This record gives sequence, C-alpha cells and structure tokens, in this order.
Amino acid sequence: MREGSHVIVLPFPGQGHITPLSQFCKRLASKGLKPTLILVSDKPTPPYKIDNDSITVFPISNGFQEGEDPLQDLDDYMERVETSIKKRLPELIQDMKLSGNIPKALVYDSTMPWLLDVAHDHGLRGASFFTQPWLVSAIYYHVFKGSFTVPSTKYGHSTLASFPSFPMLNANDLPSFLCESSSYPNILRVVVDQLSNIDRVDIVLCNTFDKLEEKLLKWVKSMWPVLNVGPTLPSMYLDKRLSEDKNYGFSLFTAKSTECIEWLNSKQPSSVVYVSFGSLVILNEDQMMELATGLKQSGCFFLWVVRETETDKIPKNYVEEIGEKGLIVSWSPQLEVLAHESVGSFLTHCGWNSTLEGLSLGVPMIGMPHWTDQPTNAKFVEDVWKVGVRVKAEGDGFVRREEIVRCVGEVMEGEKGKEIRKNAEKWKMLAKEAVAEGGSSDKSIDEFVSMVC
Ligand code: UDX
Repeated sequence: MREGSHVIVLPFPGQGHITPLSQFCKRLASKGLKPTLILVSDKPTPPYKIDNDSITVFPISNGFQEGEDPLQDLDDYMERVETSIKKRLPELIQDMKLSGNIPKALVYDSTMPWLLDVAHDHGLRGASFFTQPWLVSAIYYHVFKGSFTVPSTKYGHSTLASFPSFPMLNANDLPSFLCESSSYPNILRVVVDQLSNIDRVDIVLCNTFDKLEEKLLKWVKSMWPVLNVGPTLPSMYLDKRLSEDKNYGFSLFTAKSTECIEWLNSKQPSSVVYVSFGSLVILNEDQMMELATGLKQSGCFFLWVVRETETDKIPKNYVEEIGEKGLIVSWSPQLEVLAHESVGSFLTHCGWNSTLEGLSLGVPMIGMPHWTDQPTNAKFVEDVWKVGVRVKAEGDGFVRREEIVRCVGEVMEGEKGKEIRKNAEKWKMLAKEAVAEGGSSDKSIDEFVSMVC
C-alpha cells in the first residue's frame, strides 16, 4: 500500500453513475490506493468492505426520511442531496484525518461541481469525473460560455453544430435538453453547471478512452488537465454485497443471471438480439406495443429486459405468443450477456455505459435513443465508429414496428451487417488495448495515482 494513498470517491446516486465510479475505485485499488466509496442512499447501512477489503463503502443519507418519495421533484432532490453531503462529508473527512487515514483527493461526479470547493476547503485535490463522452461535455461547455444558444422550442431549431473531424450534428443528434430549453429546465441547468468551474478543477477524469474522440481530445486536453480512464467496465460480477444493496431501489445483478445465460446457451452463435433501455428510460404503452410487435416480426431470437415497473405495458398473451423466440427478464447481467457468443446485436437506448459496454465487447448496436446524451451517443455508433445503426423515428419520436424489423434485419443479416461486425471487432480491440497494461487509460490511471500520492 502506498503511503498516504487514501482517496474518496463520490458518485451521483444513479445506476449510470455508481457503476463507472465504483469500477474506477476498483482500478485504483488494483494500483495500491485505498479508496473510500461514498454512496448516497435512501437507507444508509453501516460501512462495509468490498474487493478483498481494499475498498471501504460508506453509505450516507440522501436527506430524505423514510416514506418520503425522493423522485417527486428534481430541484428538491438535488438540494437535499447537496445539503446532506455538505453536512456529512466534512465530518467524515475530519474522522479520517483524526484516525491517521488522511484522504488526498476527492473524486466526485461532475454533476455535483460544488464538491470542488468542499475538497479544497479540506485540503484535498478535486477530481471531477465525467460519465459521458467529451463531445457531450464540449457541447454543454459552449452553452455555459454562451457560444451556443438553446432554442426555447424545438420548432424554432435550425442549429447545426460542427466539431473537429465529427459529422455535422443536427437537432436530432444533440443532447435532448439542448433542443428545447423549456423541456427539462432543471436538468439542463444541472448538465451545463458541470462545466461551470472546470477551469479550477485539479484533475478531470472521463469514462472514455483516447482513441474514441481523438481530435476533440486534443482540444479538451489543451484546456484542462484531462485523464481518460475508460472504459471502466464492471467486472463480470460486482461484489455480492454491493450488488445486493437494495438501497438504490434495484440490485445491479439479480437472480435472473442464470436464467438469461442458460437460455442463451441453447441458441446458435450471433442469433439473439439483446434489448435493454437501461435503468431510467420509460417507454409509453404504444411504443412498448410497437417494439414488442417489431421484435416478434423480426423473426430473430431476442432477450428483452423490461423493468418490473414497465411489465404492465407488455401486450396481453405476448409471452405465450413468442414462446421460445423470446425471453423477457426484469434485469440482466448485461456484461455477461453482451459477452455471450449467442448475442448478435444489442438494441439499446444508448446510455453511455451501455454504449461503451457494447463497443468494448464488439457487439453491433441498434440505437434507439430516448433523451439526454443518448441521441449524441447514437450518432457515434452509426456515423463515427460505424458499429451499428440508429432507428429512424417519426417527427414525434415514435418508432414504428417496420423500422425495428428493418434495423434488426440490417444488422443481423444484411451486407451492412458484415461491415458493422468488422468495425465492431476493430473497436473492441482498441478498447481492450486502452485498458490493458501500458494502454492509454491504464497510463492515465497511473498518472492519477502519482498525482494524488
Ligand atoms: C444515463 C445516461 O444515459 C448515461 O449516458 C449517463 O452517463 C448516466 O445516466 P442509464 O440510463 O442508467 O444512464 O444507462 P447506462 O448509462 O447505459 O447505464 C446502465 C447500466 O446498467 C449499464 O452499466 C448496464 O450494464 C447496466 N444494466 C442495465 C444491467 O446491468 N442490466 C440490465 O438489465 C440493464
């Protein structure tokens, strides 16, 4: 263990944030650091150790009492989380100092930029961790600087955005909050605020790797002390204790694991479409019906994750009708599934974690983005890395069954599918290279370690 090698890691309380930051913790632990992972939770439990005792997990309250619904009002939620962290974190840092386990740095989720001052006030270096690609953050930076104006309604949108060596982005490709300032004003404020104090941040970490956005990276690296440390893919099985922690409203991997894998084991190589929309996306009933019909009509085998809260929207008798053609589960061990040889494509909402996972495991993708950074991630998939296609939605965002059938056919069987598989193989190798010993992300983690030690 290195002398003075204690760092605190604090993700935003959401699946898409906890996963990459807790995996980053594991990487730090593997390099000899002693991370404390602070998890903001509804019902904090006493601290516990994971990863052969190399990581201490410290759950703290999100500021809500039992029985209160934290998801009622985003502003209230963000405020309470901030108040709770600002009260508890200094106490924890104080305790750590008193016990001689002095933390050197605070790695915090970029969506909570106010943590930089908390770090500095207590003599820690502040490292902001971005869980989305640089292109998305660069666009938010332009909004922050006032060099990109978000139209008030999507109808007034004629903006095209251009970035070095990147295809022109139209309104459809931009992060959703930037197409209409009135759609989610509070979230727009949060995502733009991530960049508000970036000029003062000591170290800027991002879950991406150098080759993914090469030209743009030259620019961001010239602006800020950037270290790309991704893809921070979780190992196949997260620590049992962490994965069973019900404080997040769902567990990371459930008992369905064996069911999915056994079902996949009975299928031919590359014959299954894996379908998942992550932890947050909610499709309306009509869209679920259309997707269900499209999957059935595609004629392919499919493994579809439908969260428990969404199962009511599955058409009646659907499970009987599809029989052996499809398996519907409420949560899957996604990495294990994507790594399975029977999986031939991934129909995804293009959350950044899912996108990186599909890319790193060489699985051709069918992007069906919903909101936030997903449209921009889908642009990467289809037009930059060329590892998949994106469904064409109607003007109101609705995706028809014929379009699902067309995209599945194109990726699973068509000529284009061959090209896509070739590209997917290439990107898989590049992702592997980045995290392997001596690769760009591995070196960045080493650099981070020497900066904080
Ligand atoms: C959202 C944004 O879209 C994302 O870009 C941002 O950085 C975080 O918030 P989310 O909707 O949660 O993310 O999707 P995604 O980023 O793809 O993360 C979902 C995670 O859950 C992935 O790591 C995926 O492997 C995991 N997952 C999902 C499972 O393990 N099993 C499942 O059945 C579904």
